[in-house]
Amino acid sequence: MKFVELETERLRLRACRADDFDDVFALYSDRENMKYTRNIITNADTMREALMRWVGGVDADPCYDFEWIIELKSTDEFIGHALVMDFGWQKEISPDLSYNEGHCETSIFILPQHQRQGYGREIKRAVLDFMFESLNCREHVSSCDERNIASQRIIESVGMKFDHSWDIPKAIDGEQTGETERRRVYTMSRADWEARDA
Ligand SMILES: CC(C)(COP(=O)(O)OP(=O)(O)OC[C@H]1O[C@@H](n2cnc3c(N)ncnc32)[C@H](O)[C@@H]1OP(=O)(O)O)[C@@H](O)C(=O)NCCC(=O)NCCS
Repeated sequence: MKFVELETERLRLRACRADDFDDVFALYSDRENMKYTRNIITNADTMREALMRWVGGVDADPCYDFEWIIELKSTDEFIGHALVMDFGWQKEISPDLSYNEGHCETSIFILPQHQRQGYGREIKRAVLDFMFESLNCREHVSSCDERNIASQRIIESVGMKFDHSWDIPKAIDGEQTGETERRRVYTMSRADWEARDA
């Protein structure tokens, strides 16, 4: 399917544009806010490259990489970035993982000043519904650093089940730092989603 924009009660998930650069760079270069992710980007060229990939992905048909800018509907203000991708990237790091195509993963990144207002959970629910209703997602996989309490609360509250923990190389600007982080991996099958408490 082609790229689509999504809406929740309070938020708009829209296509990325080149002029989002300052906002996404401020989000991704904030080491403190992003400390439990593999997504810290401190190099402007790396950020520009990533943003242009997301912008280009909007016209792909079919679209494999859904990257959304998150805005408040009330003010059009930028508050973050969310995405859906195939879980296959983790297989490159850990080839013994049993996940196959059709296992979609989501990530959500919100500016600190907009956190703890329920936006993360609102986005997660909308993206979950999109994956199971519109993408051919067989199973949804979410993983987060075991110290990332906010992520775990969101993941568990939408009914995902803990699967296993594993150690993953930490990376900044896409380069491994030599450290590892312990991540908790959760799954949700299509049957779990259909039986969810919506
Ligand atoms: C993880 C993240 C997306 C959560 O977004 P959010 O909009 O703040 O989440 P919500 O407001 O929906 O809160 C969900 C739950 O987490 C709790 N929570 C939020 N921030 C928290 C924090 N810093 N510490 C502890 N709990 C927190 C909320 O109280 C809420 O708990 P509840 O289940 O009792 O209601 C946001 O913290 C973030 O962008 N963090 C930086 C990037 C990141 O780590 N992304 C996740 C990658 S795996």
